[in-house]
Amino acid sequence: MTILFEPNRQWSAHLSTVLGGGVHPVGRVEDLRRLLGDLPGEPLVVFGPTTPATVALEVAAQQRLHRPALGVVLLRERLDLETMGQALRAGVREAVDAHDATAVRSACSRSLEVSRQLSVGTAAPSAAAEARIVTVFSAKGGCGKSTLATNLAVCLADGGRRRVCLVDLDLAFGDVGIMLQLAPDRGIADVVASRDRIDAGLVRAMLTSYAPGVDVLLAPVGPTEAERIDRDLVVAVLAAVRTMADYVVIDTPAHFTEGVLAALDVTDVPVLVATPDVPALKNLRIAMDMLDLLGLGKDNRLVVLNRSDAKVGLSGADIERVLQSRTSAHIPSSRDVPISINRGTPIVVEKPGHPVSKAIRDLAAGAIAQQANGRGGRWQRARAGGGR
Ligand SMILES: Nc1ncnc2c1ncn2[C@@H]1O[C@H](COP(=O)(O)OP(=O)(O)OP(=O)(O)O)[C@@H](O)[C@H]1O
Ligand SMILES: [Mg+2]
Repeated sequence: MTILFEPNRQWSAHLSTVLGGGVHPVGRVEDLRRLLGDLPGEPLVVFGPTTPATVALEVAAQQRLHRPALGVVLLRERLDLETMGQALRAGVREAVDAHDATAVRSACSRSLEVSRQLSVGTAAPSAAAEARIVTVFSAKGGCGKSTLATNLAVCLADGGRRRVCLVDLDLAFGDVGIMLQLAPDRGIADVVASRDRIDAGLVRAMLTSYAPGVDVLLAPVGPTEAERIDRDLVVAVLAAVRTMADYVVIDTPAHFTEGVLAALDVTDVPVLVATPDVPALKNLRIAMDMLDLLGLGKDNRLVVLNRSDAKVGLSGADIERVLQSRTSAHIPSSRDVPISINRGTPIVVEKPGHPVSKAIRDLAAGAIAQQANGRGGRWQRARAGGGR
């Protein structure tokens, strides 16, 4: 988790949201010192814009000697050359305009990356050699895939402890950008022009930073660009992103496109979402049969029931009977979910204690982590003779 030092409550609340939640907010120097002592592995302190510059510079100068892996990012309402110079001399990694949310997130991500590099070989977290791929799919539109994918990405990043790349493969109608209020400046469509030399460096340049640990590969802004993204391109992009994160979370459209099939083929944890209504369940059952036919084995799937407490007359047992599968998570229905989406902030950030947030956090820390760590193994291919 990131430590946020900001004496002003409004700024503190605003910056907690900008940083994607998962922060320790403090407003007094003594609390900051105590927290730094209690959390020796903490990789980042962000000083908000009303922090007296002397406090931030003093802490930065002290920590530079004692804890070189700790990054300090200084936010100011107005940046001037003198402050920047003083800050950098004191060991502040970045000084950024507090009003520019994108710049704030990017600076924090860069600093976390530096901390990771400096911590290699120590107990600090480091990216797995190959990310676990979690693909969120449903066979009917509007079941909550994008809601789940965005919230899962934030939970899996755990305030910057892990690196997560959220990929929007709903190429024609991707919602991830709008759900996280990200400017559509770059995304997967920008990779098309360089399709013969796709590597981690190229794809990294197309990512948009959302929060510490969470980077997003946005969908194209229009369906025309989406048409130029074929299976081979998706395969190459996923191969590149999985070298630079601990988790790749993929949001998908509600049907089997060639991109979705390419993603499913390399997925470690397939998360199939349904709502408790007969059409959604019927479609998911058909989709599961199709996955069986394609040889994408049934052992590692997680079935998630979204809006599961809606009073619709189907019991949990009815649902498991129709799906012929156990459900791994039940996410309650709540009007706070569309409210958070309309505000452009995932509910796990806006209301971490909400039952919906809790269900998604438990899913991330429980079934998904277990599967990703190998207890469920790789998504087994039942196809005789192995994969493609
Ligand atoms: N648990 C929930 N409680 C209440 N509303 C929800 C819940 N989950 C999702 N919704 C609402 O359902 C709508 C559809 O959600 P979302 O966009 O995540 O679905 P989707 O499966 O990605 O849709 P599409 O197939 O169109 O991409 C949104 O308005 C969202 O606010
Ligand atoms: Mg969607």
